[in-house]
Amino acid sequence: MSADPCSFASLGRCATKHLNLTLHLDFVRHVIRGKVELTVEALEDRFSALTLDTRDLKIISVSANGQAARFTMGPKHSFKGTPLDVALPFDLSRGQHVVVEVTYETSPSAKALQWLTPEQTAGKKQPYLFSQCQAHHCRSMIPCQDSPSIKHTYYAQVSVPKDLVAVMSAIRDGQEVDPQDNNRSIYRFRQPVPMPSYLIAIVVGALESREIGPRSRVWSEKELVDRAAFEFSETETMLKTAEELAGPYVWGQYDILVLPPSFPYGGMENPCLTFTTPTLLAGDRSLSNVIAHEISHSWTGNLVTNRTWEHFWLNEGHTVYLERMIGQRLQGEQFRQFKAGGGWKELQDSVNTFGANNPLTNLVPSLEEVDPDDAFSSVPYEKGFALLYHLEELMGGPEVFMGFIKSYIQMFAYGSVTSDEWKSYLFTYFKEKVDILNKVDWNAWMHTPGMPPVKPQYDTTLADACIALSQRWIKAKDQDLSSFKESDLKTLSSHQVIEFLSLLLQEDPLPLTHVMKMQEVYNLNAYMNSEIRVRWLRLCVRSRWEEAVATALKMATEQGRMKFTRPLLREVFNFDKYRKEAVSAFVAHRGTMHPVTAGLVAKDLKVDTSSL
Ligand code: BES
Ligand code: ZN
Repeated sequence: MSADPCSFASLGRCATKHLNLTLHLDFVRHVIRGKVELTVEALEDRFSALTLDTRDLKIISVSANGQAARFTMGPKHSFKGTPLDVALPFDLSRGQHVVVEVTYETSPSAKALQWLTPEQTAGKKQPYLFSQCQAHHCRSMIPCQDSPSIKHTYYAQVSVPKDLVAVMSAIRDGQEVDPQDNNRSIYRFRQPVPMPSYLIAIVVGALESREIGPRSRVWSEKELVDRAAFEFSETETMLKTAEELAGPYVWGQYDILVLPPSFPYGGMENPCLTFTTPTLLAGDRSLSNVIAHEISHSWTGNLVTNRTWEHFWLNEGHTVYLERMIGQRLQGEQFRQFKAGGGWKELQDSVNTFGANNPLTNLVPSLEEVDPDDAFSSVPYEKGFALLYHLEELMGGPEVFMGFIKSYIQMFAYGSVTSDEWKSYLFTYFKEKVDILNKVDWNAWMHTPGMPPVKPQYDTTLADACIALSQRWIKAKDQDLSSFKESDLKTLSSHQVIEFLSLLLQEDPLPLTHVMKMQEVYNLNAYMNSEIRVRWLRLCVRSRWEEAVATALKMATEQGRMKFTRPLLREVFNFDKYRKEAVSAFVAHRGTMHPVTAGLVAKDLKVDTSSL
């Protein structure tokens, strides 16, 4: 049994099969009072002790099959948290089960949770709570075996103030007045499909919902629900396409929840209920690939799961591959090629940021004493995609290679896999073509930092206009600037505008005269598409346009998606004259930021938070 460098839990000796959660949410103290019953199977004889992961939890009592059990807390580790060692008052034989019950309370600074005041919500009247457990934060919400190698079902009963609505990553199972307090409601949930702890998720707020398909609703505060329903109206089409590609959707419901702006990711594939950032609400459905991506995780990630976070590319690389296959089915092969080419650039940017010798740019990095949040980048996504695309070309094209992906999903569904298991299944599936597979430089792809050993040749039909326009700007002398016309950009799709700006961001900064002219002819300041806006503002700051600094800091702090907030703040930080402004914007907003975002931005801006 391979170890998980991110977990203290006793893996291999026992396995959690089911969690029964009773949660009481306290919006005054910002804590959850919880009771969790873990049904644990012994995987060895004379099993009499187990370790659970916790972080910043107050453990009140532990029992086993109803008998009080002795427990001790180990030393606190910087990111793994504190092991909870439980001594069972009896021995189990291999195959026997025990119900371990833990009563506990979370900390107001729990890494998985953000408690928002009414002012931080769209409605401004009710507080809000959301969780984000991936990768290793579930342990700050629930004591558990917090490793993606463990899969269990769950049931939950959640008590909340009666004006609020609770939703979880599960099937809704009814609601009633809390018998203990008629000012509160109890919401029930069941998740009958075994899943890893990082997919447990909860949101509580003034939520409303609207139906958008036969198995789908959108959820958000009422202020956003209509925009969300419009933006995500392609959901059922995408689900059907994904099912044609990957096999039946086993999770029953597929709902989408739009969170407040501080949600740190674009999307999160919580089962039955994808979480998304409001920055996807572009008004033209142009960012719906994020939904295709989260839908795809229903197979790669949630059904077939990386065994540890070192194999994260199995989750994200395959998911990007499926996401782009959905794109191919709905918008054509040229569109897939265009997005794949854009992904290669994202990979280059990540390799540049980390440094080409940084072991974190390995497809399969060692995470021994590495916080998964620090390791996060586009590398597992885009190096993973590039490897799969390279194999697709070698094995005979997308239709042939999808046959492998579908078979891999069937083979490992409901389980957790390592990169070696994936690779050996690849060789089994393509047993007639092992000669070709043996020519792949596996060590370079998987265990070597930097860019991959092979650069795929993507079709550039849709990228050509972006490349041509970016080259015109790069080569333009001041006297050429009058040749640029509003129509240059108006003829590009929003995907192409994003690509155009990405290309410019890969070059040396444009002269300030050029970006000012670009604003004059294209009026990029007026674009509200978040992916366009973040690139434009970075470009302006990089060209030292002082007026853009305030706008960049505004975007960095008004929303908290890390993919936007971190590069924007780093960009301003690298503008020497405004370094202090970047730091003070962070310090001013730190208190209302998501705990994980605040921690990473502090590192980016070299702010010592112990003194704050
Ligand atoms: N599962 C990830 C988000 C994540 C990864 C959260 C690691 C915490 C730790 C999600 O599926 C994702 O990849 N989101 C992307 C979407 C994109 C690649 C289309 C995002 O947030 O931008
Ligand atoms: Zn993903």
